Amino acid sequence: MNKNINGFSKLSKDGKIAWLQKNYLPDVSELQEELSSFWHTDADLQRIIDGFSENTLSNYYLPFGLAPNFLINGQVYAVPMVIEESSVVAAAASAAKFWSTRGGFQTRVIATAKLGQLHFHWKGKTEKLHQLASEWKARLLRDAATLTANMEKRGGGVIDMELIDFTDLEPDYHQLRVTFETCDSMGANFINSVLEQFGESLQHFVETHDAFTNEERDLDIIMAILSNYTPNCLVRAEVRCPVEKLAGVAPNMDARTFAERFARAVRIARIDPYRAVTHNKGIFNGIDAVVLATANDFRAVEAGGHAYAARDGQYRSLSECEIVDGEFRFWLEVPLALGTVGGLTKLHPLAKRSLEILGKPSANQLMQIIAATGLAQNFAALRSLITTGIQQGHMKMHLMNILNHLGADVDQMERAVQYFADKVVSFTAVRDFLQLG
Ligand code: MEV
Repeated sequence: MNKNINGFSKLSKDGKIAWLQKNYLPDVSELQEELSSFWHTDADLQRIIDGFSENTLSNYYLPFGLAPNFLINGQVYAVPMVIEESSVVAAAASAAKFWSTRGGFQTRVIATAKLGQLHFHWKGKTEKLHQLASEWKARLLRDAATLTANMEKRGGGVIDMELIDFTDLEPDYHQLRVTFETCDSMGANFINSVLEQFGESLQHFVETHDAFTNEERDLDIIMAILSNYTPNCLVRAEVRCPVEKLAGVAPNMDARTFAERFARAVRIARIDPYRAVTHNKGIFNGIDAVVLATANDFRAVEAGGHAYAARDGQYRSLSECEIVDGEFRFWLEVPLALGTVGGLTKLHPLAKRSLEILGKPSANQLMQIIAATGLAQNFAALRSLITTGIQQGHMKMHLMNILNHLGADVDQMERAVQYFADKVVSFTAVRDFLQLG
């Protein structure tokens, strides 16, 4: 059967579902009913949600949860989180509560610069462009003035332009690296529009300026796009307390032993990339969940964060820990390019609500809240790993997922939770328990 199709995007939603069913799910009789059962009852809202993407058939649910008791720079936040993995929200909430009685999270934005790149192929000498830099820079800025005016009113715009010669690595390849300040917006559209305009202006500049030879008049823009590596859009979150204040952090472990084991676990993630990736994945469990809840771009945040983790040539933990003069210090530095205006921040009803829950933060404030959530998540994961092991907590949630999957009723669930309190949870063991009970 030929499963190719032309014009799929032109079909109505029902038409797309019918085509899907016929070609890929012929045995599913009620696909239309199933997929439409997840549509929003408000047709206008559903139209808006459909518009976020293309070829939309339905909505895909993820849990929207809340981690309260986040004390950040003296203010208490309840942090909305969207994540499908069990234990993450519970872990963040538990770490937040723990630190709320030990001074909370101290956070600060280190820098907010975002980057864009104009990649071009040009046979001229870079020197020549350097000599004429003030002329073409002024031309680029002037030609893009209508695009940048609004952002400039908000205090942002183009901050810097740097011409980089890559001809030793790739013949005739040059790059214009542009630094932007995009205030409370993530700024992707703004940056890309400005860069595309810069490309046209730069081409026009070399075509028309009498300093260039005929061969030099040919400047080919390869691509114009923001960079998701934003090492200068950076935030720091930290917790600290006297070691003895860690007492009670974990059953059967005294405060000093805990602090030392914890610091050692972080050092291991600084020296071994295999551990570092998992360690940082735990940090991004927290970061991504808030990034998603606030309709920010988690792929951009992840890509930039992991690149930053490898900035000295080896992939390392994003967090660090030390014990100095009897004080336990644990901190995280991570690049976070975020927006609290524009994009889907108003269009997605729960993203809008998330930002309201957080007190309508500026992008800078959101960076700090999210960094604190990442640090809390990392603290909770390491606390489990170096004490009880991760499975104890995970398995409780896993048990509930298995019970739900097997269609257990409330009574069976209660009995299963009791039964498995001191036993290993597995799908087969739970199924056998339900069948016997
Ligand atoms: C699981 O999603 C995250 C952890 O693996 C993180 C870590 O190992 O630090 C628990």
